[in-house]
Amino acid sequence: MDTDARELMAELREDHRNMSIILDLLADLVEEMAEDEDPDFELFDEIMRYMTVYPDAVHHPKEDVVYEQLRERRPDLSEDLNHVPDEHLEIARLGGLLRDEVEAIIAGAAVRREKMIEDSSSYVTYLRRHMRWEEEDLFSRIDLMLEAEPYRVDVSEYQNIKDPVFELEVEAAFKRLLASLPNTIA
Ligand SMILES: [Fe+2]
Ligand SMILES: [Fe+2]
Repeated sequence: MDTDARELMAELREDHRNMSIILDLLADLVEEMAEDEDPDFELFDEIMRYMTVYPDAVHHPKEDVVYEQLRERRPDLSEDLNHVPDEHLEIARLGGLLRDEVEAIIAGAAVRREKMIEDSSSYVTYLRRHMRWEEEDLFSRIDLMLEAEPYRVDVSEYQNIKDPVFELEVEAAFKRLLASLPNTIA
């Protein structure tokens, strides 16, 4: 089933708001590690699981569909877009790496603290920069395209996959993450 692309853009913006909240939580954990405190690694693990099962598996593929449409229909608005699919792959790669590291720590393996700090802060920085560029530049190009002519997009493959933290009532697998959200959201 096709979706109005304007609805999809609203969902993508909502995802960004949610991802920013999660990245702020992750940044707090990085700060605790940098101050030599022991962060809540179970929470760290839930964050990384969330990032791999929702943003990497649903948000970025939906964006790829709409960016492809922009390239096809409005080459005049599509300058400097070729690197985007690679950035999505890089975000997934960095996230997978971090998820493996935190799971190794929970399993009792020795992972160098400096390496965790380095990997997690580059992940946070990379993803924040990517989202800021999308919001400030790319999303407004898509708005221009849709104002000129509204389109429908086929994202049916992803449409029924709910955000496991922000859209489901209670998902036991993300208990800590839910409990850590600011009160205004949870
Ligand atoms: Fe993206
Ligand atoms: Fe995005």
